[in-house]
Amino acid sequence: MIQNSCSHGGVYTVNPSQVKIDFSSNINPFGTSKVVLNALRKNLSKLSSIYPDNEHVALKKKLLDYLGGNLSQDSINVGNGATELIYNFVRAFVRNQVVIPSPTFCEYELASRKIGAKIKYIPLKNWNLDIDRILEKSDKSDAIFLCNPNNPTGIFTYQLIERLIEKIDESVKILIDESFIELVDEIKCARSFIDKVNEFQNIVVLRSMTKSFGLAGLRLGYCVSHPSIARKISNYKITWNVNGLAQLAGVIALEDLSHLRRAQKMIRVERKFMHEVLNNKLRSFSAYDSDVNYYLIQMRNCNSTLLRDLLLERNGILVRDCSDFKGMNDKYIRVAVKTHNENLQLLNSLEVIDI
Ligand SMILES: Cc1ncc(COP(=O)(O)O)c(C=O)c1O
Repeated sequence: MIQNSCSHGGVYTVNPSQVKIDFSSNINPFGTSKVVLNALRKNLSKLSSIYPDNEHVALKKKLLDYLGGNLSQDSINVGNGATELIYNFVRAFVRNQVVIPSPTFCEYELASRKIGAKIKYIPLKNWNLDIDRILEKSDKSDAIFLCNPNNPTGIFTYQLIERLIEKIDESVKILIDESFIELVDEIKCARSFIDKVNEFQNIVVLRSMTKSFGLAGLRLGYCVSHPSIARKISNYKITWNVNGLAQLAGVIALEDLSHLRRAQKMIRVERKFMHEVLNNKLRSFSAYDSDVNYYLIQMRNCNSTLLRDLLLERNGILVRDCSDFKGMNDKYIRVAVKTHNENLQLLNSLEVIDI
């Protein structure tokens, strides 16, 4: 029952053999970098047969260089994807009640439900955070989940989150999920809250290397917080939680940032191109701006589940049906920004359906 309340994109949500292009997972449009793949091939035999570093030391060192600022290894927890860290955050800090703006990524709800917490949903206001209502509900809550950029709507206003953090009581923990922040396009450059973790000891900033560096199958994420908070999260880590290949992939990915930079550049150009065609040339579809590597398409005459099934059956294209996001309806699909050739295939498929 609980499992059904949370669903995702990805090829295993349908018959995987039908999927030629997956627009339902929002990862780096270039996938895993060649440099990472070469390093994995070279080390496959050795890393497959030894236990991984339980403390993720090499990766944490690279992350400290990458993130800069006044952080230490004690500020970082590494997880088997960002998802593991959401669960460990919940186990560490949630007892009775949480606040979740909606619509958003469903794992916050699922993790909180699993430990029996009550959930207060706060609908977005014009797809931005309703800070006053969040503050209102926060006094009896253990934690607030803020997804920025939000899945599936895009970036929230930085100053709104800042206001919330400044006003809220420090006993309420705030998870700021920045899993997509590195895939915001190169011009917009969304501001991170990582530089606030020493000032505000109740915030935890979550990142997903799965998404930024195209490591969805290997699974890799991390979170940054004040060391006192990080220690409590680490109490819930299982031994050897991140395999050796994923750790190596993370280290090499952080040495080869050109892969990420190239993706950021392409995301901006391709999203603009898709938006122009969807908003100006097709009658039944319109695209919302998001500044990130995915966007919502609203449909006039179509049902999102039917459209997903049709695109899959006819074209082997998988999109994310948004009808099961709390606070959304069957008029939206979410699609990732992919390479130009792949994006053209999506447009061509939608054009045939356009009426
Ligand atoms: C907002 C958000 N956070 C976290 C995750 C999970 O990331 P990971 O694959 O690193 O576990 C997702 C996956 O879709 C997501 O949308």
